[in-house]
Amino acid sequence: MNTLDSRSFRNALGEFATGVAIVTTQVGDDDPIGITVNSFSSVSLDPPLVLWCLDKGSDRLEAFQTCAGFTINVLAATQQDLSNRLSRSGQPYLEGIPVTEGVNGCPYLSQSLAAFECEVYARHDAGDHIIMVGQVKAFQQPSAETPLIYHRGGYCELAS
Ligand SMILES: Cc1cc2nc3c(=O)[nH]c(=O)nc-3n(C[C@H](O)[C@H](O)[C@H](O)COP(=O)(O)O)c2cc1C
Repeated sequence: MNTLDSRSFRNALGEFATGVAIVTTQVGDDDPIGITVNSFSSVSLDPPLVLWCLDKGSDRLEAFQTCAGFTINVLAATQQDLSNRLSRSGQPYLEGIPVTEGVNGCPYLSQSLAAFECEVYARHDAGDHIIMVGQVKAFQQPSAETPLIYHRGGYCELAS
């Protein structure tokens, strides 16, 4: 049974500053989609594994439950609009966003700081989320700008 106050718990978790990424995928003949996440983490160097967590309530759930691969696109500070756009319910599509097809058949954002092209390695059930583990098959570093940072429920800039 959950005995924690969920608002306070979320506030405490928000003290952990993170980057922001868009995870993209493509299933069959469907249009490619993306979702904004800050749960991205590196896991293993050998084999090269990364993870992120997907809310089971997400409207992107079916796509990410059936996809064979996904790509983690790390956002730059200049890409806040993109982060907002791909965090909206019912608006997962990538129209108008410059992308390139990667080795895993998923699009990666042409302007991201880094893109990790993954095959699905494992999906783990974890409460109200699914832990998506990917094996990195290729990676890109298309630009070298400053990263987009998320802290206490909002965007902020790195101190210079
Ligand atoms: C900065 C930021 C980080 C987010 N991180 C995650 C995440 O790690 N996992 C997740 O499932 N949703 C995350 N979300 C929420 C999803 O982007 C959003 O819920 C989803 O795209 C669509 O909304 P829906 O849940 O109403 O379908 C994040 C949103 C923002 C703005």
